[in-house]
Amino acid sequence: MRHFGWSEGNEVYLPLIDAEHRALFGLADSLQNAVSAAAAATEVREHLHRLAAQAEEHFTHEEWLMQSAGYPSYGWHKHQHDTARRRINLYAPLIESGDREATDAFLEFLCGWLQDHTGLTDRMMGAYLRNYERTHSVRHPEEVASKA
Ligand SMILES: [Fe+2]
Repeated sequence: MRHFGWSEGNEVYLPLIDAEHRALFGLADSLQNAVSAAAAATEVREHLHRLAAQAEEHFTHEEWLMQSAGYPSYGWHKHQHDTARRRINLYAPLIESGDREATDAFLEFLCGWLQDHTGLTDRMMGAYLRNYERTHSVRHPEEVASKA
């Protein structure tokens, strides 16, 4: 059984993004559990749709943040999101039709993708965005002086 648990190793140190990642890992885990428990097709479909919707919302959010901050590796990062989008679209009808082999293949892909993407690609984005915020935060000179 694959492990979809979110841990500190997946942290990118952006609270909103980390919360979205936790939700995504949780939804992937729910889908896997439903499939393992041979849940009804309608239940599996529901888990799949929730996961797909959360993934799209989350990718769009990250892409907006990266574009807003002029992230130089935006294209590379978005390319990885697009790969996940394509796989979701490719596998969704097969999962919905009850194709167990395709469902396993999708969960295998997703598990590796989530670990690799959050562990490196999202962490690099997190580091850039935190630095961008520090550089662009508007602080009153007196506030800066009082902390010096
Ligand atoms: Fe990402």
